[in-house]
Amino acid sequence: MTSTTDPTTVAVTSAGPHSGAIELPHGALQRPAEMRRNIDVSGLVDHEGGLLDRAVFTDHSIYAQEMRRVFAPSWLFLAHTDQFKKPGDFFATFMGEDPVLVTLTREKKLKAFLNSCRHRGARVCRADFGQTRNFTCSYHGWSYDLDGKLVSVPNEAGYPESFERDDWGLVEVPHIETYNGLIFGTWNPSPIPLRESLGDMAWYMDAMLDHDDDGTEVVGGIHKWVLDGNWKLAAEQFATDWYHVNMSHASALMVMSPTGKGPRDEIVHRTGRQYVDPNGHGAGFPVHTKNRFDAKTVHDHTDYTALRERLGDARVEGPLTNGHATVFPNFSYLPVNGSIRIWHPKGPDKMEVWAWTIVDKCWPDEVKQAQRLYNLRTFGPSGIFEQDDGENWSECQAIAAGFITNGVALNYQMGLGSEREDGRYPGTTSELYSDAAGRSFYARWRTLMNTPAWHEGDAR
Ligand code: FES
Ligand SMILES: [Fe+2]
Repeated sequence: MTSTTDPTTVAVTSAGPHSGAIELPHGALQRPAEMRRNIDVSGLVDHEGGLLDRAVFTDHSIYAQEMRRVFAPSWLFLAHTDQFKKPGDFFATFMGEDPVLVTLTREKKLKAFLNSCRHRGARVCRADFGQTRNFTCSYHGWSYDLDGKLVSVPNEAGYPESFERDDWGLVEVPHIETYNGLIFGTWNPSPIPLRESLGDMAWYMDAMLDHDDDGTEVVGGIHKWVLDGNWKLAAEQFATDWYHVNMSHASALMVMSPTGKGPRDEIVHRTGRQYVDPNGHGAGFPVHTKNRFDAKTVHDHTDYTALRERLGDARVEGPLTNGHATVFPNFSYLPVNGSIRIWHPKGPDKMEVWAWTIVDKCWPDEVKQAQRLYNLRTFGPSGIFEQDDGENWSECQAIAAGFITNGVALNYQMGLGSEREDGRYPGTTSELYSDAAGRSFYARWRTLMNTPAWHEGDAR
């Protein structure tokens, strides 16, 4: 049983007896070592000098190693607790490139399973979400219950006596934990607790997730779209990059600013901060005593006095409002927009973005809808900001594979040496315009890429 800091009614579990032996999901077979030969990536990331080799965005072997050593051992965002109300509610997502089903069992426990039949490997559920009593594979009809247990096998008499249904349950994600409405899972059999892995990042996340005791809920559906670009281009931008805002989003800012001229760059630059987490998370935000939600309906409804009492002035004037953040490796959010999103890796040069809008549960319906529309206008798939960002990532990716281009290092030197404890914001912070959280993101990536994961033993 794992612990949870989440106040919702949903319980979380660790893998039960039908977990399908996650220690070695390939069963009794032994893979040849050549299939998991690892690359030492030390020479690709110079986080102290602020340099990055573009092979991290293009190389297929590095991508395969990421699946083994970055995604498999890390806490990965799965869904929001609001998506699970009744037993049988399920949601299909991915952990890295592995398809998983998140379900609420009859006992109202959250569990997650590999969405792959133990027979020939088809997905046992091809719906995106819904409610069910069983997951029945549409290939030959093996059927699994909400606990992942194999409960029915057509022509079972044809199997040898040694065949036990209990041995062939869905492979269960061994650990699921929640943090203020966000569900994370990891394949790591002995992870550090989620809350510990978030560290001071949780303080920044609470500026979005913890406005009151009721917490948040999902409004509307989930937008999904595919972009040409490595997943890290998006994740690092959300961790570290306010720098692009005035240039990339110039037209949008002009349209949105009352003067038609956009924001005053020097004020934003001087006052904003960037949080730099040792585990690779990052967040950036302008700071201003009058910072506020951009959606007018939301702003008018917001009780800033109550928020200041609960969260403190520093959070209300900074990370509560216009900001960006990434929880390593691939979960990001935008507090003012109510946007939470995941960058699913789909090969070294492709990602699939899944984006939710979350709102405070206690808001009246018209305020929730105003926030949903505001998020769609700005950071929906055709949002005026979202389109600029996707265009940039695809641009950087499009030419990165050229032989000469690929060998030319990228610059992450802004704010080198600026990291410090500023006395107002927890942990290490830097200037708003800085690559500090980006350097930290890639330092964490490098460490994981060079560290054998639990499934490798001592293999290197
Ligand atoms: S692949 Fe699922 S029953 Fe055969
Ligand atoms: Fe942007």
